[in-house]
Amino acid sequence: QRYAKRNVWGYEQFKDCMPRRDPYSHKGDHGKGLTIGGSATMPGSIVMTAKAALRAGAGLITIGTSEKVINRIASQCIEATYFPIHEQNNHPSIPFEEFDAITIGMGMGRSGNAAALVAHVVEQTDCPLIIDADGLFHVKTDLAKLKVRKSPTIVTPHPGEMAMLLDISVKELLITPFYWSMKIAQTYNVYVVLKGKHTIITTPEGIQVVNKSGNAGLAKGGSGDVLAGILLALVMQQRSVFQALCNACFIHGKAADLLVEETHSDQDLMASDVIEGISKVYRTLS
Ligand code: APR
Ligand code: MG
Repeated sequence: QRYAKRNVWGYEQFKDCMPRRDPYSHKGDHGKGLTIGGSATMPGSIVMTAKAALRAGAGLITIGTSEKVINRIASQCIEATYFPIHEQNNHPSIPFEEFDAITIGMGMGRSGNAAALVAHVVEQTDCPLIIDADGLFHVKTDLAKLKVRKSPTIVTPHPGEMAMLLDISVKELLITPFYWSMKIAQTYNVYVVLKGKHTIITTPEGIQVVNKSGNAGLAKGGSGDVLAGILLALVMQQRSVFQALCNACFIHGKAADLLVEETHSDQDLMASDVIEGISKVYRTLS
């Protein structure tokens, strides 16, 4: 691994590894992604994930969310398609095989039905699966099931969620975050994106890298939902899951950095600005 020894992921690595769009490509080449989440009290998170995925280059995005919120959010992401999920139905007839990658959990809430839906998706899907936010809460009791998935599984906890998964305190986690990331990655055969000021990416094989971009403007609700969307888009467009995760974290932080340098500040930055900021990062490549 060329980048494994450097242990950091910055602009150089991003520029080297970021796939460029083939002039003759069609939407299928850039991935058909499914994002599952959102609920009556948190309808916006799933919209941010979907928009970020499209901005980051995904070919097609379908939002799977509570039927109760679709009417409210459909006008906010007009490029996506929608799959209504009845809140009482834990086994919705989503054609999972049609998707190249899935992300689940953002704003989905902690109901028993949401838990059953997460378990269903973990067991029934055979494509890269990104688990975030409440999805992590639900998967905690089923972590062993991640190990038997045939396709890559990616968990994206912030320190609070990571400590919850490990049954340790945040304080304990932050003393040796590399150790704990490795422990989860190797025990459950998953990729771990431990988010924070210095996000740590760990592969099941034990490669660990720290992302160099980002600033405190990202310390605001919604930033994590945006990252989930960028991760979804890149996992569908890069053969190496490791490089996709590193690039996604870099793009997310770099978007915030360019916005804070050029038009915003770390005080006023909002998650939806970061989605627009993805354009600034991509334009540096042309
Ligand atoms: N510097 C750089 N990056 C940062 C900083 C910082 N000071 N603070 C946060 N970030 C980045 C993280 O690396 C991560 O990519 O912003 C993102 C924040 O993600 P989350 O912590 O998942 O935040 P988000 O989901 O948007 O909002 C918090 O999580 O605890 C749950 O449900 C709770 O609604 C809450 C949500
Ligand atoms: Mg989050």
